[in-house]
Amino acid sequence: MTSIGESITRIDARAKVTGEAAYPGDFNLPGQLWMQVLFARRPHARIKRLDISKAQVAPGVAAVFTARDVPVNEFGLGSKDAPVLVKDKVRWVGEKIALVVAQTEKQAEHARDLIAVEYEDLPPMTDPSAAMKPGAAQVHPAYANNVMKHIPIRKGDVEKGFAQADVIIEGEYHTPAQEHAYLQPEAGVAYIDEQQRVTVVVAGQWAHEDQEQIAHALGLPLDKVRVIYPAIGGAFGGREDMSVQIILALAALKLNRPIKIVWSREESMIGHHKRHPMWLKSKWGATRDGKIVAAQVEIIADAGPYMYTSPKVLGNAAFGAVGPYEVPNVRVDAYAVTTNNIVTGAFRGFGGPQAHFQAETQMNKLAEKLGIDPVELRLKNVLREGSLLSTQTPLPGGPVSLPQVIETCVKEFGWGNKGTEGTLGNSENAHPERSEAESKNASLITGFGFAAALKNIGFSFGYPENAWAKVELHGGAEIEKVFVHHAAAEVGQGTHTVLAQMAANAVGVSIDKVQMIVSDTATTQSAGSVSASRMTYMGGNAIKGACEAALEKWNDEERPAIAEYKYLAPPTTNFAPEDGKSKPNVAYGYVAQAVQVEVDTETGQVRVVRVTSVDDVGKAINPNLIQGQIEGAVIQAQGWTIQENFQSKNGQVLTPSLSTYLIPGILDIPDRVDSVIVEHADSNGPWGVRGMAEMPFIPLAPAIVAAVHDATGAWIDELPLTPWRVLEKIKAVRQKI
Ligand code: MOS
Repeated sequence: MTSIGESITRIDARAKVTGEAAYPGDFNLPGQLWMQVLFARRPHARIKRLDISKAQVAPGVAAVFTARDVPVNEFGLGSKDAPVLVKDKVRWVGEKIALVVAQTEKQAEHARDLIAVEYEDLPPMTDPSAAMKPGAAQVHPAYANNVMKHIPIRKGDVEKGFAQADVIIEGEYHTPAQEHAYLQPEAGVAYIDEQQRVTVVVAGQWAHEDQEQIAHALGLPLDKVRVIYPAIGGAFGGREDMSVQIILALAALKLNRPIKIVWSREESMIGHHKRHPMWLKSKWGATRDGKIVAAQVEIIADAGPYMYTSPKVLGNAAFGAVGPYEVPNVRVDAYAVTTNNIVTGAFRGFGGPQAHFQAETQMNKLAEKLGIDPVELRLKNVLREGSLLSTQTPLPGGPVSLPQVIETCVKEFGWGNKGTEGTLGNSENAHPERSEAESKNASLITGFGFAAALKNIGFSFGYPENAWAKVELHGGAEIEKVFVHHAAAEVGQGTHTVLAQMAANAVGVSIDKVQMIVSDTATTQSAGSVSASRMTYMGGNAIKGACEAALEKWNDEERPAIAEYKYLAPPTTNFAPEDGKSKPNVAYGYVAQAVQVEVDTETGQVRVVRVTSVDDVGKAINPNLIQGQIEGAVIQAQGWTIQENFQSKNGQVLTPSLSTYLIPGILDIPDRVDSVIVEHADSNGPWGVRGMAEMPFIPLAPAIVAAVHDATGAWIDELPLTPWRVLEKIKAVRQKI
């Protein structure tokens, strides 16, 4: 009856594998019309003339909408600084100019192409460093000097720190954009429901936030808008901001007819935000015995023209700039800079992967320069119980288990004998696979790499974290049925299953008695976003509170016993404007990864052979689902590190399809991923949960880069590790020898 810690089958598995589960594109309503979007497809321009007259009279057309039809023409998660439809100024390729609604999808498409727009193209701002220079043209009226946000962190005195250093490593790193490439492109239907609410059936990550943004743009009271999430084909942060939500609602409201839209893959790829490309300039100093004494990092993030989730991404990047280490002297300056490139926003890890790529590569370079095993160097500096973060506060929640997580990774991977012979770089004894692989093919060489990370749980930085749940207990002498009302978005991660498991445990019934009533703003209050690794923690605490309150009523003989509960997490604070001092986060998860790669020195191809990922999740509610998260994160991170190569030029996306933007296929994934779950309970997490969906993404890139270095001697500071880049770096190293 416990159901906690059991790998029960997902409650949505059967419907999904049989095809019974309906995704947003699967809904068809009587009398529905189809919508198509006219995208700008140019990065920077002024609209001189917009003529919709031909489209309006085209066959089947019901309406054409432009900016003047949007009551309050603005949206955005971080700031409502983006237009729903552009009135005069285009700032990125995915900007929406007009909407066409017609009887059929083809008719809408045909009419869309009859819209005449006369543009005055303007030079696009595509280089964030140039955008920050004095006198650069301003991309968005709200952001002077094109700096959307600057986060400084100051701890100690870096100059004094560098003066104590025996070795200093300086590096310049670049990480690219990344496409979420979820299975299901944006789609949805909107209609007016029986209570006259504009109802949007769509895939998102936070139904109540979608509801708020739709209501705002349409100038409607909140209770006149309803958002329903059916099955969702992945999200990864890519559905945090609005795509089709507002435009569907607008057309349904104006026409009083059901409206449907399905974006093509190509529309999805230019129509929603990407992971922030970042440039990271870094200087770290350490003493001869391996104590880090100072770290100075400057981060420039390409935000595109609008804010979206940039503040959270930049916050995590600034926070992650020193990696999972206690550094006495820190100077970080992180900037989100506006450009006319594709807009950027949330993507698994929220800036953590970019920052850790720099931090962990700096650590691996320091280890090499000091002649200390990279694991040993980490253990000398890693955050522990009582450590102070760069924000000058300790880590709340459960034990700071990074030392144990790292030790477990060493043991499970078989990382040589730490501190003695046979460590990385001369690891033949510890890693017999190396010589085996090399003897098979003269051009194949093997390398090993290690990295670690921490990831916050929740929206952090002063956001008042909360989640709501309602529980109904039905029956007579015994509890026969439990209804759980909850708004968590099931994006494929298994959250509804995990929440049901927690409810079953909390009221003491078997899981088959629990029924989830989910993801409809008409019947639930906000659970917050499925994002920032937060839902098991925040949503679980809400369910725990609601179950306890309902049980109390049940014990007082109430039938049914019904209780609501709103969980409020311990407060956090935002970075202080001068020095970044703050209590930034509620809780943390910790991760360490070791990888084995094979580099083909003739082709430059890097193959990941083996990954061991050790993750402290606090408490594994459903270990199989956690294994799925770890394997998914590892493969998604491998894509970002090696295969994926998001290309743009002059603000235009050159890789707008999955035939030009290659994500890992079955032949690219590692031969073996060992997911090792560690459980050090968090003191505020429900059942000790920490939250874990993002963290296995974070250390992989630096671990792979370290392994490529171990194999070839080349440090590659820019992702992705495309064959030509790898070959070029290997060549450069060999020429030096
Ligand atoms: Mo995600 S970047 O936590 O939606």
